[in-house]
Amino acid sequence: MEEQQKSSHVVLVMVTFQGHINAALQLATILHSKGFSITIVHLELNSPNPSNYPEFTFVSIPDNLTESQLSDKDIPGLVRSVNKNCAAPLQQCLEKILHSHHHISAVIYDSFMFCAQPIVDDLGLPGVTLCTHSALGLLFYHVFPQLNEKDCISGLESPELQALQLQGFHALSSQNPTEAGMEVGAAFANALKSSSAIIVNSMEFLELEVLSKIKQYLPTPIFIVGPLHKLAPTMCNSLCTEDNKCISWLNKQAPKSVIYVSFGSIVNIDKQELIDTAWGLSNSKQPFLWVVRPSMDRGSEWTESLLNGLEESVGERGFIVKWAPQKEVLAHAAVGGFWSHCGWNSTIESICEGVPMLCRPFFGDQILNASYICNVWKIGLELKNLERGNIERTIKRLMVDMEGNYIRKRAMDLKEKAAFYLMEDGSTSCSFDGLAKHISSV
Ligand code: UDX
Repeated sequence: MEEQQKSSHVVLVMVTFQGHINAALQLATILHSKGFSITIVHLELNSPNPSNYPEFTFVSIPDNLTESQLSDKDIPGLVRSVNKNCAAPLQQCLEKILHSHHHISAVIYDSFMFCAQPIVDDLGLPGVTLCTHSALGLLFYHVFPQLNEKDCISGLESPELQALQLQGFHALSSQNPTEAGMEVGAAFANALKSSSAIIVNSMEFLELEVLSKIKQYLPTPIFIVGPLHKLAPTMCNSLCTEDNKCISWLNKQAPKSVIYVSFGSIVNIDKQELIDTAWGLSNSKQPFLWVVRPSMDRGSEWTESLLNGLEESVGERGFIVKWAPQKEVLAHAAVGGFWSHCGWNSTIESICEGVPMLCRPFFGDQILNASYICNVWKIGLELKNLERGNIERTIKRLMVDMEGNYIRKRAMDLKEKAAFYLMEDGSTSCSFDGLAKHISSV
């Protein structure tokens, strides 16, 4: 009995962003159902509510971060601060856990929390990286920087992926990374080298070619365990209060008529874009549900008056909330399109519900995800020009025109594939069994 307990304790180190918290807690729930006891180490900023998970032990570490840093556009700078500020507290925390539990089977850490790997190496513990982005993100951010040009741009067969690869390679080689970007990239890559396994919240059939290219260069075992939100569906990890009134509003709308608009938990949009978004939505004459987070500047006077004016002009046709129950919204019969920033969670949630997308990526992996959506899976349109007339036209292309019908059909096909993957194929459960075995044996 004691042996059993000894061999099955996992420590999960997560970061502070909504999308990352969701994936970590979903993974923890599934591992717990497989017999692992779980300790969650989290930052003070945006800490989860432990009373929602009485089965886990929660430990918080100081991060010295401020709310305003979270809405900063400098993500590499933020990730660098997180790792700098949290390394020493994380080391002390793991030492303390080791002291009281005597045994940790593995430390699974969010890939943004790469400072964990040298610490676990020091303590003689196995580290496992959790990627809350796609396998394509892993290829671009972790594998490509280690390769020469020839290796980078070869090895993928489909023309769409080749184009994406080439475009990504040129973008990577032409951009001048900031000092923080270079530091973070190198630390990511180093952590991966000594990580004993990599977990990716994706579905194998979505990324087969990319996965085989990664495996060519990265010997570390990779476990594809998604879609986590479908495998641990009952939990609510929202950091904000969900406004469920939007579901009653959706109940009154015609099937597939509503465009749902949300830019995730970090992105901020500037004043002009907010104004054009509002009037693009209004002029499209399409029913819409729009998430405007308070941290997207909703508190300011001009945003309030813009939104009030919009609500007056569109009446019952539009509904604005501060935070929505997104998974329920995407599964609702009235929703026919998702205008998104293309965060990986939003992308995978939309795929699982067969909702075609309007893509407005802002930074980082969102740009890769948008290319996947528009050019590889062809289940969305990219919104390149953010002027209100173009917004109105693109909404109509997706929601009303024949072009939208084709896109919708492909989105529904992908939804069916996802359902089949979850039900029949058993790939995910095999992957979880493999992961459980790996953790117990390292
Ligand atoms: C961040 C990065 O922006 C993204 O690029 C990366 O892929 C993951 O981390 P975030 O901005 O939080 O992600 O977006 P996303 O990954 O899409 O996650 C947002 C989560 O919040 C989703 O699970 C979504 O269902 C949830 N959400 C969002 C709500 O529940 N309600 C809302 O109103 C908006």
